[in-house]
Amino acid sequence: MKKIVVINGPNLNLLGTREPDRYGTDSLEEINGKVAKEAERLGAQCEFFQSNVEGELVSAIQNSGNTDGIILNAAAYTHYSVAIRDAVAAVSAPVIEVHLSNVFARENFRHTSMIAPVCRGSIAGFGAKSYCLALHALIVDF
Ligand code: DQA
Repeated sequence: MKKIVVINGPNLNLLGTREPDRYGTDSLEEINGKVAKEAERLGAQCEFFQSNVEGELVSAIQNSGNTDGIILNAAAYTHYSVAIRDAVAAVSAPVIEVHLSNVFARENFRHTSMIAPVCRGSIAGFGAKSYCLALHALIVDF
């Protein structure tokens, strides 16, 4: 069974109440539940991790290095963390960058992703569905 790890960065623990017009009304737990259900349907298994701390995200990426894939929403760290970029580059598991919002339709500073060049691909703008699309990108052969 394929094992996928979903890693979420700072402030995503507040989903549901954090800027719901932008990020939707699902809590992170609800989003994780949807992803777990979809993974099960596809015959895969998911693990979930969230932290507001950069170093903990680096460790989570390192610890997931031998899995079948990592779905990473590094949140604000996306735009400036060299440490997270280096962790992504260091592991052999394919990493998909995801964002709930369309970062390219927002402020200029969100148009830069430190991690995109070292990720397998990026999915942004589909709300909670971004995570399920990433799951499909990692698991399904079209
Ligand atoms: C986000 C986009 C980031 O720019 C922002 O800092 C977040 C959430 C998203 O999922 O849309 O915290 O990663």
